[in-house]
Amino acid sequence: MKIFLDTADLSEIRRAADAGLIDGITTNPSLVAKVAEGDVSVMYREICEAVDGPVSLEVLAVDRETMVTEGRKLAAIHENAVVKVPLTEDGLKACSDLVAEGHKVNVTLCFSVSQALLAAKAGATFISPFVGRLDDISGEGMQLISQIRQVYDNYGFDTEILAASLRHPMHVVECMLIGADCCTLPPKVLWQLSSHPLTDKGLAAFLKDWDAAGTAI
Ligand code: G3P
Repeated sequence: MKIFLDTADLSEIRRAADAGLIDGITTNPSLVAKVAEGDVSVMYREICEAVDGPVSLEVLAVDRETMVTEGRKLAAIHENAVVKVPLTEDGLKACSDLVAEGHKVNVTLCFSVSQALLAAKAGATFISPFVGRLDDISGEGMQLISQIRQVYDNYGFDTEILAASLRHPMHVVECMLIGADCCTLPPKVLWQLSSHPLTDKGLAAFLKDWDAAGTAI
C-alpha cells in the first residue's frame, strides 16, 4: 500500500521523505492556506521536487472550463503533479477532459460508492473517499472503502483508492486489510504508526542491561 503525506508543510514533507517512508503527497486548499506565502506555484514546485511520486494539487474553480484551465497550469508545474478536482458534475467532466489530455487526476470529496463509480468511469487516476468526515456524522467511513474496493474489483476499474481523512493508526490498519491502494496521512498519524510503548520499554531494558555489563562494542 502506498503512503502519501496529507500536508503542504515542506518541513514535514522533507522529514518523511528523508526517512524513505512516503510515496507521494496530497494537498487541499485548507492545508495550503495554512502555510502559503507569496506565489503558491513556487511552493508547489518545491513540494513536487521533495518527493519521488504523485503530488495532488487542487483546482479552485467550480466550473468545468475553468477547472480544466487551472488543471493544465497545475499539471505543468512538475511531472509529479496530479490535478485534484472535486466530485461534482463539473468536476467529473473536467476529470474526463484532463485525462483525455494525458493528465493524472485525483477526484476528491468522495462520500459514496455511486460517486466512486462515476469517478472511475471518468478515468480518474485516484479516488479520494473521506473516511473521517463520514465517521464525524455517525457514518461508516471504512465501509465506504470496503465497498469501493469490491465495486472496482468486480468491474476491473484501475482507478486507485486513495483513502483520505484518516485520523488515527487503526484507520490505516483497516485500510490495509481492506486493500486500499493508498492512504494519505497527516504527519502526526504517520509518526504514530511507528510508536509502540513495548518498543520503548524493550529498548530501555536492552541499554540498561548493556550498561550494567560494562561491555564495549
Ligand atoms: O485529504 C483530505 C483530508 O485532508 C481531509 O482530512 O481530517 O480534514 O477530514 P480531514
